[in-house]
Amino acid sequence: MSKVIYPGQTIGIIGGGQLGRMMALAAKEAGFRVAVLDPAMDSPCGQVADIRIVAGYEDQEALAELAEVSDVITYEFENIDYAGLKKVMEYAYVPQGAELIRITQDRRIEKTEIEKAGVPVAPFTIVETVEDLHRGIEQLGYPVILKTARGGYDGKGQLKLTSEEDLHEAQKIVESVPCVLEKIIPFTTEISTIIHRNAAGESYILPIAENIHVNHILHQSIVPARVTNAIEKKAELAAKAIAEHLDLIGTLAVEMFVVEEDLIINELAPRPHNSGHYSIEACNVSQFHQHIRAICGWPLRKPRLWESSVMVNLLGQHVVPATNQLAKHPEWSLHLYGKHEAKENRKMGHITIMTDDMERTLFELEETTIWS
Ligand SMILES: Nc1ncnc2c1ncn2[C@@H]1O[C@H](COP(=O)(O)OP(=O)(O)O)[C@@H](O)[C@H]1O
Ligand SMILES: [Mg+2]
Repeated sequence: MSKVIYPGQTIGIIGGGQLGRMMALAAKEAGFRVAVLDPAMDSPCGQVADIRIVAGYEDQEALAELAEVSDVITYEFENIDYAGLKKVMEYAYVPQGAELIRITQDRRIEKTEIEKAGVPVAPFTIVETVEDLHRGIEQLGYPVILKTARGGYDGKGQLKLTSEEDLHEAQKIVESVPCVLEKIIPFTTEISTIIHRNAAGESYILPIAENIHVNHILHQSIVPARVTNAIEKKAELAAKAIAEHLDLIGTLAVEMFVVEEDLIINELAPRPHNSGHYSIEACNVSQFHQHIRAICGWPLRKPRLWESSVMVNLLGQHVVPATNQLAKHPEWSLHLYGKHEAKENRKMGHITIMTDDMERTLFELEETTIWS
């Protein structure tokens, strides 16, 4: 069943965005070949891959072609075609399986599975009709947040409801797609735990990141998260419990809310995560290296943080101002993903800074005015 994949063999990645690109770069370091399936010829991952298959993610023929040239198949995002992946599993080696995709594609299933793992999520109800919506609000009370069950990211597909005035807009969403309705959590901090697990059941957690969002998009990850040891321990136990419950192979990012001394799980991502990019420089094993090790049946490395670090995202509007200040900042590790069009709020790259004085570094970042 489980296999060891060796250098010289080919890793096939479904999805050619920045996560695929950074996976590919990690894989290529160890001499793997990389094939990528993406609708764009010049995708971020396509630029560094050995083989490009240019087609939609649900294109069965293209998936078969990817499988043909690959010794192992992985994916860089969860919104791929579940049925298509199941089909690929009939003739290709997909160690992560399709179950993780089925679960994390749909918030209704995801939340239910997290609860089954014995860890708390925000109080929620499933909303498939307008009646469900009214019942849900009655049950949870304002303020609540309505999220489409499928396809949301970076706050897209979400609506905050603070009073009856927001009902009309919420109804319009509910009439078109299934949703979940969640209680708004007055969190003190948001953190994320990235856990890797291989087929042998070996698992490790990366140092926990504290995440600061701006307009629902991740802005900064500060590592280690500024939380108590007790919270750190709880976060690790929660991530482990979920990973075991889901029989994880590969990578799972677990986003969490810290509320005083309690933890609430927000959502899962079955892949490397934006909040783990810091690990490329700041750890002895990056989330991408560890992912490749996990899917290739290699032993995992015990993560170690070399130094505290902060990662800050470069969205479309930040690229030019950041580039203009590069010469002044030898401490910046700059990553750009090779996307041509710097659209507003599009994730174009990131900067990681390792530091022994976090408060000062955060202050200096603010002083650049790039992100203000
Ligand atoms: N129940 C909630 N209470 C408070 N804030 C929330 C809640 N759900 C989401 N948020 C805020 O919105 C952000 C994005 O929501 P999330 O569910 O993670 O969706 P996405 O898929 O867009 O990342 C979260 O990181 C958090 O800041
Ligand atoms: Mg999120």
